[in-house]
Amino acid sequence: MSVTTAAATREKSLCGFLALLLAVCRFDDEIAMSYSMENYKAIPMSFKWNDELNTGISNIDIQHKQLFTRFNALLQACNTAQEKDAVGNYLNFLHEYIIFHFEAEEREMINHKYPRCDEHKAEHETFKKQINQLYEGYTTHGVNMQVFVMTIRTSGEWLVNHILKTDKVMAEYLRNEVGTGSGA
Ligand SMILES: [Fe+2]
Ligand SMILES: [Fe+2]
Repeated sequence: MSVTTAAATREKSLCGFLALLLAVCRFDDEIAMSYSMENYKAIPMSFKWNDELNTGISNIDIQHKQLFTRFNALLQACNTAQEKDAVGNYLNFLHEYIIFHFEAEEREMINHKYPRCDEHKAEHETFKKQINQLYEGYTTHGVNMQVFVMTIRTSGEWLVNHILKTDKVMAEYLRNEVGTGSGA
C-alpha cells in the first residue's frame, strides 16, 4: 500500500469512526446501521460504578454493580475478535437477570410505599420488552449487526437514563426510608 493510500485509508477510517461515535451518541439508527461491526471496535466508553449510586439496599447495590460490570465487559469485548460471542453471552445473562433484578427493586418500592412505583415499573417493562426482542433476534438469527448495535445502544441508554437517573431518585427515597447500609 502506498503512503498516500495508507493515509487516505487512515483518514477514511477516522472519519468513519467519528461519524459512528456521533451516531451512537445521538442514537441515529440510519447512520449507525450503515457502518460495519469493525467500526465499533475501540469505542472509548466505560460506565464506572461510583458510591453515589448506592441505594442503601445491599442486594440492589450488588445487582447494579453486576449490571455495570457486565456491560463494561461487553464494551471491552468490542475491542477483541470475540464481540459476537460477548453480545450473545451478555444477552443470555441480561434477559434473565433483569427479571430477578426488577422483582427485587419492585419489592423494595412496594415495601417502602415508594410514591413513584408505577412509573418506575413502567420503565422496567419497556426495557424488558426491548431486551426480550433482542434476545429473540439473537436466538433466531445469531448476532447480526442490528442485534449488535441495538444491544449496546439499548443497554447504554438504560444505564444512563434508568440506573443513573430513575434508580437514583428511588435510591434517595429508600435511603431516607431505611437508612444507608440497611440490608433488605
Ligand atoms: Fe435498578
Ligand atoms: Fe429500576
